[in-house]
Amino acid sequence: MHTRMPKFGTANVGHLAPLLESADAQRPLPDLNLPATRDVKSDGWKMVGAQGFSCIKCHTFGRFQATGVQSIDLQIMTRRLREDWFRTYAMNPQAYRPGTRMPSAWPNESARQLPGYRFRGYRLTDDQRPTFLYEVDGFRIEDFPNPVEEGIHVFLSRRLTIRGGDKSKTLYYRAGTGAISKIGDNEFQIGEIRSTITGAPAVIHNNQLLVPITAGTTEILQTYHWP
Ligand code: HEC
Repeated sequence: MHTRMPKFGTANVGHLAPLLESADAQRPLPDLNLPATRDVKSDGWKMVGAQGFSCIKCHTFGRFQATGVQSIDLQIMTRRLREDWFRTYAMNPQAYRPGTRMPSAWPNESARQLPGYRFRGYRLTDDQRPTFLYEVDGFRIEDFPNPVEEGIHVFLSRRLTIRGGDKSKTLYYRAGTGAISKIGDNEFQIGEIRSTITGAPAVIHNNQLLVPITAGTTEILQTYHWP
């Protein structure tokens, strides 16, 4: 197929650009306030790469040719697209073009819609850290993710308090996925992350780290340390 996009010329169609822009106005999005450091750039490379969302499978990235579907170069998008449009589009490409092969990288269904799941609100500590309250299959859960600073080390901890439940049911807390190995009594390597789990025994099963939970009260503390 030898189709050529004709050139219309600025004099003929130049005035359409601002009109199209106002017709396609986006909801204003909150400012992400990301500092333009080297970390942001390398995190971006990681996210579009094979270890992340694999955008480069379908989008050429500068001199790197896409390996699958050949789509628009990711590096020239910043010249063509506006940031608010990009963000709304990335959340749900189907809304712009039903049937497109461009996947959505983010879940577009809320966890609240899962069967057996009930959100019960949240509670805040004095310094505004949330504990999420929810129910899964009759188990009542309090979930407190919390960044911890110990000297020069910063890590993340997550305390799950699980109550109630049905004696005939086992709930599985999935504490990690991917390449997992046991490196200590309650210690696991999950990809790049070192994680400890106390309060209940965790088992590795098919690239998943699972903590079986039965009726009663269980308090699990998981920590995440990264290099
Ligand atoms: C399975 C292949 C595939 C993957 C993976 C993919 N895309 Fe796409 N993308 C496409 C296709 C095909 C289009 C063209 C959309 C259309 O017209 O249907 C597109 C369009 C886009 C557009 C609109 C571009 C424009 O200039 O109009 C953006 C932005 C985009 N992709 C960003 C991304 C990002 C960011 C990722 C990774 C999070 C990603 N894509 C992953 C196939 C893919």
